[in-house]
Amino acid sequence: MPKVGEPMTRDDGMLQSRTATPWWQRAIIYQVYPRSFQDSDGDGLGDLKGIATRLDHLVGLGVDAVWLSPVYPSPMADFGYDVADYCGIDPRFGTLADFDALTTAIHARGLKLILDFVPNHSSDQHPWFLESRSSRTNPKRDWYIWRDPAPGGGPPNNWLSHFGGGAWEWDAHTGQYYLHSFLAAQPDLNWRNPDLRTAMYDVLHFWLERGVDGFRVDVVWLLIKDDQFRDNPPNPAYREGQTSRDKLLSIYDSDRPETQGIIQEMRAILDSFAGDRLLIGEIYLPVDRLVAYYGRDLKGAQMPFNFQLINAPWHAAGIAKIIDDYETALPEGAWPNWVLSNHDQSRIGSRIGQAQARVAATLLLTLRGTPTIYYGEEIGMVDVPIPPDRVQDPAEKNQPGLGLGRDPERTPMPWDASVQGGFTTGTPWLPLGPDHATVNVAAQRVDAGSILALYKRLIALRRSHPALIDGAIALVKAQSAVLTYERRHGSERIAVLLNLGHDEQRVAIDDGSVLLSTHLDRADERVAGEVVLHPDEALLIRLSR
Ligand code: GLC
Ligand code: MG
Repeated sequence: MPKVGEPMTRDDGMLQSRTATPWWQRAIIYQVYPRSFQDSDGDGLGDLKGIATRLDHLVGLGVDAVWLSPVYPSPMADFGYDVADYCGIDPRFGTLADFDALTTAIHARGLKLILDFVPNHSSDQHPWFLESRSSRTNPKRDWYIWRDPAPGGGPPNNWLSHFGGGAWEWDAHTGQYYLHSFLAAQPDLNWRNPDLRTAMYDVLHFWLERGVDGFRVDVVWLLIKDDQFRDNPPNPAYREGQTSRDKLLSIYDSDRPETQGIIQEMRAILDSFAGDRLLIGEIYLPVDRLVAYYGRDLKGAQMPFNFQLINAPWHAAGIAKIIDDYETALPEGAWPNWVLSNHDQSRIGSRIGQAQARVAATLLLTLRGTPTIYYGEEIGMVDVPIPPDRVQDPAEKNQPGLGLGRDPERTPMPWDASVQGGFTTGTPWLPLGPDHATVNVAAQRVDAGSILALYKRLIALRRSHPALIDGAIALVKAQSAVLTYERRHGSERIAVLLNLGHDEQRVAIDDGSVLLSTHLDRADERVAGEVVLHPDEALLIRLSR
C-alpha cells in the first residue's frame, strides 16, 4: 500500500510483463471529457491541471489508459471537436507545458495516454481554412472540399449534415459551396489531397514524439467521400420522428473503400514508434462493415470501437446474439472491444436504470476484449436534465426536442458532497446532477455496497483471473431474462450470469463457488446444480471442473 501522500502507481507489472501481448489487449480504457472532469482555476471548466490532481482516482479504480476528448485550441462550436490548431492546447485547458506535465504524471502512474484525433474536419477558424476560403487559387483551396453549385443552382448534391440541415455551405466571396458533415463551423478536410494528408500525418508525429500512446480517431468512417459526389438514395425505412439525416442512406458520404488506405497509413506511422501505440477508430456501422476497419492483415485500427451495446435493447436474447455475431464476424487474430457509453450517448443508468447499470458493468468487464469506461459511469452518474437556458450542445440547439442533446451525459464529475461537488470553486459550465450529494466519489469510496466498489471488485477480479482477460468466451446463451456465458483459460472456467430483469431467476449450473455478486452477501457461496439470481443481480461463479 502506498503511504499517505505518496502517489499511487500501478505496480503489478501487468502492462509490462507479457511481452507477447500488447498492453492495450490487457488494458481498461477510461474516457475523460476534460471540460467536466476537474477544474483547477475556478473558471467552471475542467482542465489539464485538474485532471493531473485526480489520477489517484484512476489508479484506485484500476484502469490502465486515459483517453482525453479534444483539448486543442478551438472556438468550441462543437466543444473541441472543431479544432483550430492541431498542435496546441486550448488556453481554457492549459498549456503545452501542462500537457507535458500531465503526460509525465500519467506515465509515472503506469498509465497510458490516448488523445482524440479529429481528422475529418477542422474549425472554420483554423488558419488552413481561412486560407482555403480566401480565394479559389489559394494553395490550400483543395485542402477542403469545394464544389460549384448544382447545374440549376443550389447545393452540389443532397448530402445532409449530422447536426441537421444540408451538408453544404455557400461561400459568397468565392462563389462555391464547401462541405461540412457536421456544423458549418466544421468544414470537412479533403483527404484526397496529398499535402493535407502529409500535414495531418505531421500532427500524429508531433504528439507521438511527445509521448502519447495512441489516438482515438474521430468519425474515421467518414474520412473519404465519393469522388463523383453522387446523391445519396432515399432511405425506404425512414420513419417520422427520426432525424432529417435518416431520410437518406449514407452510401456516398461514408464508409468509402479508399478510407482503408488512410487508416493503414496512420497505423504505419504509429507502428514506426516503439511501444505498441494504439489506433482506435470511432465507427458507427453494422458489425459486418465495422470489422473491415481492422484492415487487411490487421494493419488498420487495432480497435475499431464496438458500439453494438449502445443501442441494444436490454434483453438477454438480443445481447447474446450481439456477442455471438460480433465474435463470429471478427477477422482471424482481431482483438475485440466493448463500449457501453461515451460523450455522445445517454448514460447507461438512464438507458436501463441504476440497478441494471451494475449488471451492465459486470457485462462490460467480463466480456472478451478491451472495455472502455466513460467517466462517471463508475459512480453511477445518470443523465442530468439541462434547463433550456443552459443548453450548450449544438446537436440540441439545431434540432431541439428530438433528444439529440448531449449535455446531459457531459455534466461535471462529482467528487464529494460539497456544493459544486469538488469539481470547481466557480460556476460549472453545466449543472451537476441533483443526486450528487450521494452520487460522488468520496461517499462511494467508503461504501462497500456502492457501484464504485463494484467496479473496483470487478476490475481487481479481471486482473487476477487470466480467464477474464486471455480466456475464450463460450456458451453464450439467454435463458429467459438471464444472459450467461463462460470464460475459459487453461483449467479455469468462470461462469457469468446476468439477470437482465427485475424478477428472481433460477439457472441450472455446474458445481462451483461464487467469485462475485453485484449483491454483496454471496462471496464464496457454494453452488451445486442450480443457482438463484436475485432481481437485477449478476454473478461470477468459478466452476469446479
Ligand atoms: C464525433 C464526436 C462527437 C462530435 C462529432 C463531430 O462523433 O464523438 O462528439 O460532435 O464527432 O466531430
Ligand atoms: Mg478550468
